[in-house]
Amino acid sequence: MSNTITAPAFDIARIRADFPLLEGEMRGKPLVFLDSAASSQKPQQVLDALDYYYRHQNANVHRGVYELSQQATDAFELGRERARHFLNAGSTEEVIFVKGCTDGINLVASSFGRKFLREGDEVIISAMEHHSNIVPWQLACEYSGAILKVIPINDRGELIMEEYKKLLSERTQIVSIVHVSNALGTINPVKEIIDLAHDRDIPVLLDGAQATPHLKVDVQALDVDFYAFSGHKVFGPTGIGVLYGKKKWLDAMPPYQGGGEMIATVSFEKTTYNELPFKFEAGTPDISGAVGLGVALEYIEQIGQDNISAHENHLLEAATKQLLEIDGLSIIGTAENKASVISFLIEGTHPYDLGTILDKLGIAVRTGHHCTQPLMDRFEIPGTVRASFAVYNTMEDVDKLVAGVKRAANMLR
Ligand code: ALA
Repeated sequence: MSNTITAPAFDIARIRADFPLLEGEMRGKPLVFLDSAASSQKPQQVLDALDYYYRHQNANVHRGVYELSQQATDAFELGRERARHFLNAGSTEEVIFVKGCTDGINLVASSFGRKFLREGDEVIISAMEHHSNIVPWQLACEYSGAILKVIPINDRGELIMEEYKKLLSERTQIVSIVHVSNALGTINPVKEIIDLAHDRDIPVLLDGAQATPHLKVDVQALDVDFYAFSGHKVFGPTGIGVLYGKKKWLDAMPPYQGGGEMIATVSFEKTTYNELPFKFEAGTPDISGAVGLGVALEYIEQIGQDNISAHENHLLEAATKQLLEIDGLSIIGTAENKASVISFLIEGTHPYDLGTILDKLGIAVRTGHHCTQPLMDRFEIPGTVRASFAVYNTMEDVDKLVAGVKRAANMLR
């Protein structure tokens, strides 16, 4: 077995049955898990692949001539091929394993920044970025003397594209934008963003952490230069993620970290670097993570991203409609094009108190600023309650959320 899984048809009962943790209880109640935007649950197929790897294939990769190391290397590289297929990248040379989306963005900000950012250059991000797509660029700007420019958003939580066009200039070296906002659910018009940047030969990085669990991503059709995402949000293990980069940029960029694996030859006088993608993978990689991630990505593809989007949109629409019927409830993030996140507030209540009561009812939501403090400042709020849906959520979960929010609001007011 190990790396092959059976094709699940889109049957919600069958999909739920793949996720052992969802069968459990929390605080004596059936768990209603609505925090998949923070981290998704894992299907049995991924758990089995991890177990099989450690029981039957575990050894270091790319190092041993012996059979077991070959098997570990094959399993690891199959994970890379599955990630390539998932993104429709042209080659596995362009698929770098990283710790997660944050690590991927840091890799680009650090390496691209060192090579291409100079004093007075500009980096464009947006007002809805996660801290992981703000702070790495602030660090790169600090080291290089470059300046961070921020695309503003409207009250619905959509990028103001006219302002983006005005920010693009001959000083812009890179544009780094979130594909789907973790706090608002906004799906950004990424193709237009990329085309406008490319008109000026400016590369674009997309933070795909919240897009990959919900939407089909095709890096060649987008013509995006860098695309980063995390394994743990796409039903894979924690500690593994992918950075896609166009070969022409990855070839031009210096290594991010030094160590084993990323070298061709080492002497005290001079070190030469390994070919792609290994040039960016110093040290023993997260081998089991890559195995598990590959199976998770295949799991998504076998359900079909269109089926996933349709199912989640159904839940999102129903939840939005029912929540808005609650007195004093307002939704933060009302973009026309949204993926499965609802951030909300109820007048006269604090998000933390709402989240705590929901937890007592067995309903897991995230509360707070969602690692987007500048975005919360833009809306002049301390934070929100955020419910996020994944492929395994049901209409019953929506009903329980709505009933729980009503109950909590009545208790708190
Ligand atoms: N970025 C993750 C979230 O939005 C952790 O919850």
